[in-house]
Amino acid sequence: MSATPAGRPAARVTTTDLIAMKASGERIAVITAYDVSGARLVEAAGVDAILVGDSLGMTVLGYDSTLPVTMDDMLRATAAVSRGAKRALVIADMPFMSYQASVEDALRNAGRFLAEAGAQAVKLEGGMAVADTVGLMTDAGIPVMGHVGLTPQSVNVFGGYKLQGRDSASAIRLVEDCLALEAAGAFAVVLELVPAELAQMVSEELTIPTIGIGAGAGCDGQVQVYHDVLGLGDFTPKHARRYTEAGAVIGKAVSAYVDDVRSGAFPTEKQTSHLAADVVAELERILPLTDEEG
Ligand code: KIV
Repeated sequence: MSATPAGRPAARVTTTDLIAMKASGERIAVITAYDVSGARLVEAAGVDAILVGDSLGMTVLGYDSTLPVTMDDMLRATAAVSRGAKRALVIADMPFMSYQASVEDALRNAGRFLAEAGAQAVKLEGGMAVADTVGLMTDAGIPVMGHVGLTPQSVNVFGGYKLQGRDSASAIRLVEDCLALEAAGAFAVVLELVPAELAQMVSEELTIPTIGIGAGAGCDGQVQVYHDVLGLGDFTPKHARRYTEAGAVIGKAVSAYVDDVRSGAFPTEKQTSHLAADVVAELERILPLTDEEG
């Protein structure tokens, strides 16, 4: 856990801290994580917030979209991330159909992320269509991050993972979506796959921070997927930068382990524990337990 100079644990980043960061022009760094080790690593590296994204469907569970991800998947991952993150704001992504069918479902499911899984906020996809739900959640004490532009849970409506808001009508709709989310009480909004000029205009319109992914440098912060940044997959989306090749590092380490197991070079004395001599002697006296006829 990081500590203040006085030795006290650093205070948790709050949703109001993120709004203050925007006001003071400080950029916000967000990344996804899905388990306790990932959460510890990204927190130690200094991120402001961790998104437990439903991208877990692809990065961790091996699906080809986020649509099959369940509440149980997200609650389990969020609880693990919460156990690893003591300072960063933990935001849980609400999975497909956990908030679309009814406001009651939405409130109950959102509340579970805070009450059972230790998150400080939730994220859901959509603009005006979910603004009332966002308002009710906020009133109920559940901070909400919006998500507009390419919203992956609607991939079948969009017909693919495509840049959104390219003509003026859809660009205006996107601005209206963001304003509706802000008016409903959202503390931030993710802009995914949005042209940079539009993202910049939205960022200037809103008092809450915009967190971009594939939306250019004019957003108030950025969010990236852990596996993309670390080079853990074969495919790198246009919006991502591989900061390392962790997949290759892991592959090399595991193949050295396999070689050592096969050659007998692992384990050595260093990785081995022993019985006391008197216990060895006692066991040698009584073993084998099976009699010769048995
Ligand atoms: O699920 C996720 O990782 C996300 C980010 C891409 C914003 O929603």
